[in-house]
Amino acid sequence: MAIGIFDSGVGGLTAWQALQPIMTEDIIYFGDTIHIPYGEKTPEQLFGYFRRIMDFFMQRKVSAVVVACNTMSAVVVPRIGPNPPLPLFNMIDAAVAQAVPVTKGRVGVLATRATTESGAYPRALQNAAPDLEVVSQACPKLVPFIEAGLLGGPMIREAVTEYVTPLLQARVDSIILGCTHYPFILPEIRRLVGPRVTILDPAEQIREDVAQFLQGRSPQCSPGNCRTEFWVSGDPWRFQNLAQDILGSSLPQVQRYSAVGDGW
Ligand code: DGL
Repeated sequence: MAIGIFDSGVGGLTAWQALQPIMTEDIIYFGDTIHIPYGEKTPEQLFGYFRRIMDFFMQRKVSAVVVACNTMSAVVVPRIGPNPPLPLFNMIDAAVAQAVPVTKGRVGVLATRATTESGAYPRALQNAAPDLEVVSQACPKLVPFIEAGLLGGPMIREAVTEYVTPLLQARVDSIILGCTHYPFILPEIRRLVGPRVTILDPAEQIREDVAQFLQGRSPQCSPGNCRTEFWVSGDPWRFQNLAQDILGSSLPQVQRYSAVGDGW
């Protein structure tokens, strides 16, 4: 048995990295690179991609899926009802569990356009803590930059300034990285935000949630020695190179799964 993880691209690797110390099953990572950026897609498109990706994971008999994508967690997960085809871990629930105990009352959320427009973050945060003020900021330039391998420099800095300044002006006390790509540019965000604002990466809570799930199951491998199969819907070579550049370590050969990408 394995655990599935998916995202539109390399963003889910931030959750993948966070999971490494606790994994006792292998991982199957899927990057739906042919459809990136998810943040610019309609709910109907995202729903279609999600169904195909679940089919992929069911064929591979994974035991659970980490939706390592806030956009899918915000737009699709709330619509699939109480009985998903596989147990799911999603970024929004993780972020809420993480943010509510630490915020002093005003939370900023950096996210994709689709996540921001869904209203999922303010809904979920205020459901858990009705007095919480939530300031949301869509950041449409960030995912294309990161997918182009740009993690720093003047263009990233300018975009981060554009998106983070409104949150600082609103005097948020914490900021949720509401897109799994953003931890890759954490130093740029931290530089602007300073030490007084808490920056939250929901992957840390996902690690707790998955650890709990794995505790009830017999281990297949020991932490640090579990393997990952990498699959993408687009160009495997491109994904492999970008991921290796960003992570600074080599990846096993990435394979292409065309049924997710072809014909729609
Ligand atoms: N990394 C994803 C997220 O957390 C998707 C980004 C995108 O493809 O726009 O929202």
